[in-house]
Order: sequence, then structure tokens, then C-alpha cells
Amino acid sequence: MSVDVTPLFKPLQVKGYTIPNRMVMPPMATNRGIVSDAGLGWYGEHAAGGVGMVIVEAVAADRFGKELTVEGLAALVKAIHRGGALAAIQLFPVMFGRNPKPGDLEPVEIHEMTRHYEAAARICAEAGFDGVEPHGAHGFLLNQFFSPTDNARRDKFGGELENRMRMGLEVTSAARRGLGDDRLLLYRHTPVQEGSYGLDDSLGFAARLVQEGVDVLDISPASAEAAADLAEPFRRFGVPVIGVGLMDEVERALAALTLGRADLIAVGRGLIADPLWPQKVREGRFDEIVNCIRCDEKCYGNLSKGIAIECTQW
Ligand SMILES: Cc1cc2nc3c(=O)[nH]c(=O)nc-3n(C[C@H](O)[C@H](O)[C@H](O)COP(=O)(O)O)c2cc1C
Ligand code: SF4
Repeated sequence: MSVDVTPLFKPLQVKGYTIPNRMVMPPMATNRGIVSDAGLGWYGEHAAGGVGMVIVEAVAADRFGKELTVEGLAALVKAIHRGGALAAIQLFPVMFGRNPKPGDLEPVEIHEMTRHYEAAARICAEAGFDGVEPHGAHGFLLNQFFSPTDNARRDKFGGELENRMRMGLEVTSAARRGLGDDRLLLYRHTPVQEGSYGLDDSLGFAARLVQEGVDVLDISPASAEAAADLAEPFRRFGVPVIGVGLMDEVERALAALTLGRADLIAVGRGLIADPLWPQKVREGRFDEIVNCIRCDEKCYGNLSKGIAIECTQW
């Protein structure tokens, strides 16, 4: 295969940060523990494989400052930086020990949610993370607030679009307060949810997220197959957009960048299968890539069994 891969290796300036290339490791739950030796090894190895930014897997915002200390997190950041990548981390909503739907949360718990996001972002900044990302996608709690079919609230957090946006926006501004002005604030959102909300609602939300201080929009469709064509409309807000879904197919990744569908591409399962994917692509060693075959057996499969993710192709 002879292809010009240089678009993948063009640095991108975002505020005071230079992302060294266009490849992002998206958040992926590992069941390894993020500050364990296994976790540091996992993230260090992936950063050294050549991605420009690692987004550490979703971690509930109320775990920061408890078992996740500044010191432990700083070791994780160091492992990622040593590999040459920027380090961000995804902040999962607080579950209050009961996996609630939006309608189940008391006003005091909503307030607590934002307080936890602010505190978590502050601790991440102290630990040296370059950015944080509230997890507003994939049908989880923040995404449920946005979804008219999941949000039964009748107060200012439910009903019309303006109200359904409020939880995501409040969490975003809380994260910004904790993070400070300079570091990167990302937000992960699912652009369309069949039978619930469409692209126009999501574009309205994205505009507000950017006003609220989001620096990078991480647009993650519910299905990986939908990929970066859904990211493209979000580029109109003047901040970089991450496109995700099957981007380990090099031509698809290049098309996303060269056709202007996305500013950054995230490679998920492709990086589980082969952490050296970026390096091998850069060097044209396409035959040596350990390809993800989309079986979902030992990544999603292990995740659902509660054991550390692996890959059938190792
Ligand atoms: C094992 C596994 C864990 C994941 N965990 C998360 C997560 O914590 N947060 C998130 O937003 N997405 C998560 N995802 C979704 C990925 O970030 C990514 O969007 C998805 O894998 C599609 O990209 P791909 O086709 O390159 O794999 C996970 C995916 C996998 C395979
Ligand atoms: S287990 Fe299957 S789907 Fe998961 S990363 Fe490996 S090859 Fe891909």
C-alpha cells in the first residue's frame, strides 16, 4: 500500500497546547485500574505507540480525591507524557450508588454532581492532566438528561431542549472552574439517537458547550459504523472536532481529515489490538499492523465479564 499518511502526522494547536499529531486514543474502560501498575503500563505503552493524545477511560467524578489521589494520578500523567502524548481523562457522572435515571435525582444530588465535576477537574489539573472530558455520550446519565425519551423531569432540567441541555452545560462550566482557563476541556456527545433526538438538537447543544468553554468536541456516534460523517457538521463552531469509529482503517482516517470531516481521529479497538498502530502507519509498515477484526470478544466481552480487557488478536 502506498499512501500519503502525512495528514495524520500534522500537529494541531489548541490554545496553548500542541497536539503532536491527529491521532487520539479515545476513552476505553480497561478494568485494569488506572493508577495500578497494570494501568500505568497500559497507558504508557499506548502513549509510546505514537498517538497525539490519550484520553484515559471514564472514571466517576466522585472517585477523585478518594482512592484517586493527586500523587497517583500524577504518575499516570507522567507515564503518558513520557510516551510523547498529551494526557486527558474522561469524567463519568456520579451514580450515587444506584444507577439513577435523570428523573430519580434530587435537586441536591444535581448540585452534588456539579460539585464533584469541579473538584475532579481541579484534582486532575493539579495532577498535571492537560485536559478533562465529561462523558456526555452513549446513553449514560448526562446523555440521558439530553434525551427526551430518557429524561422525565418537569423542572428546569427536563422538558424543552433548553432544559435538557442544562445538566451537560452545568457540568461543563463546573469542570471549567475546576480546571482553570488554560487546560483543555473536551466534551463527548452522541450526535443522534434514533427515536429520541436528532442532529439539529445536538448542533444547538454544541454551540452552547463551546460558549461554556469547551475546547474540543468529541463526537461519538452510538454505533462505530456511523463514524466521522456525523462529526463534520460540528466543525462550524471553530473548535477542533474528534471523529471516531473504525478509524483504524487508514484510508477512512485519512479521508476524515483530508475531506474536512474531522480535525482529529480517535482509534479505539484498533489501538487495543495494536498499540503501535500510529508508529507502524507513520513508517508505512502496514503489513505489520495487528488488525482489529471487530469481534468484540475480549474488549467489550471482557468488560462485560468484569475482567481486564484484552484482544483475540494478541
Ligand atoms: C473496551 C471498550 C471500552 C470503552 N470504554 C469507553 C469509555 O470509558 N468511555 C467512552 O466514552 N467510550 C468508551 N468506549 C468507546 C470507544 O471510546 C470508541 O468510541 C469505540 O470503541 C469506537 O471506536 P473504534 O471503532 O475505533 O473502536 C469503549 C470501547 C471499548 C472497546
Ligand atoms: S477483541 Fe476483537 S474487537 Fe476487540 S480489539 Fe481485539 S480484535 Fe478488535
